[in-house]
Amino acid sequence: MANPVRARISALGAFAPPRLLTNADLEKMVETSDQWIFERTGIRQRHIAEKGVAASHLAVEAANRALKERGISGSELEAIFVATVTPDMMFPATACLVQDRLGAKGAWGYDISAACSGFIYALQTGAKFVESGAHKKIMVIGSDIMSSIIDYTDRATCVIFGDGAGAVVFEPATDGDGFIDFHHEVDGSGGCSLRMPGGGSLNPATHETVDKKMHFVHQDGQSVFKYAVRKMVEASETLLARNGFTAKDVNLFVPHQANKRIISSSAERMGLRDDQVIVNIDEYGNTTAGTIPLALDSARSQGRLKKGDLLLLAAVGAGFTVGATLLRWAY
Ligand SMILES: CC(C)(COP(=O)(O)OP(=O)(O)OC[C@H]1O[C@@H](n2cnc3c(N)ncnc32)[C@H](O)[C@@H]1OP(=O)(O)O)[C@@H](O)C(=O)NCCC(=O)NCCS
Repeated sequence: MANPVRARISALGAFAPPRLLTNADLEKMVETSDQWIFERTGIRQRHIAEKGVAASHLAVEAANRALKERGISGSELEAIFVATVTPDMMFPATACLVQDRLGAKGAWGYDISAACSGFIYALQTGAKFVESGAHKKIMVIGSDIMSSIIDYTDRATCVIFGDGAGAVVFEPATDGDGFIDFHHEVDGSGGCSLRMPGGGSLNPATHETVDKKMHFVHQDGQSVFKYAVRKMVEASETLLARNGFTAKDVNLFVPHQANKRIISSSAERMGLRDDQVIVNIDEYGNTTAGTIPLALDSARSQGRLKKGDLLLLAAVGAGFTVGATLLRWAY
């Protein structure tokens, strides 16, 4: 029998560090141009954390905004899940650092590593703990300091990524609005197309791994691009069809912000109009686990997020990881 409890997002907070890295700044650092970057990616600027600012700091800023909006304190949270590929350190989990700083004495939690699909995967983790009846107040956060793993002499990657975070509070739904369904896939055969090879148990940090730049993002941009467009569309269409919807029913498509051309091609293939799609990559670049909550925040500040709206969230990331989520915005 279907579980009658539905989970809903009851508050949203987002945060990006104030310092900007513009295309003009990058022109001074590598051989590139504002025109190339904007035409090929849609990015004009990224937010970059100061030295000493880590994923947990952005996460706490975003989480505090969400708590304030909901009018609750950290002590009311029962669990905290943090999606990140740039944790403060290998362990303890960033979720533990965040738990302490939020004063969330009664909460447990852990980190989720699924790169650009991380926030969507963490959303499902949060939703399932609410739907199962195990918890009534959960915090789900996506936070990444991509600038900490980017080689700022590599023009193919340094123009794309930025830093940012977003957080949502989950609670049981009070009416029919909230989470509807999800479709996730992993294709581990794509692991070599986008990765940071150094620093784990296979290649622990040595002088050699540093010299070989193994602690930076390495990617095969074109294969990631093609896979992202194909799978973003496939996952979204599978999910819509399974729930009896078509693209026309979607009020807002909230895609992972990796490249404006990936977003536009996916939206076009799905038959979505521009006014059904949120794009803020120009302002933030690709913040990995931060993009979807930052995009929700942008949609809200543009007055494009209303109670009852049908939202389709979709992401593709390193792994490869693929995710799509369907929900009705619930407040
Ligand atoms: C990385 C990406 C922007 C590159 O764009 P592209 O159109 O595929 O460009 P290519 O890699 O084919 O490179 C085309 C040329 O531009 C050059 N180029 C790459 N980066 C450049 C830059 N920042 N400025 C100027 N030229 C650049 C390349 O060296 C290449 O030159 P060549 O033809 O002389 O060899 C694009 O492939 C992409 O966005 N891929 C997906 C990446 C992604 O989303 N990652 C995160 C996944 S969640």
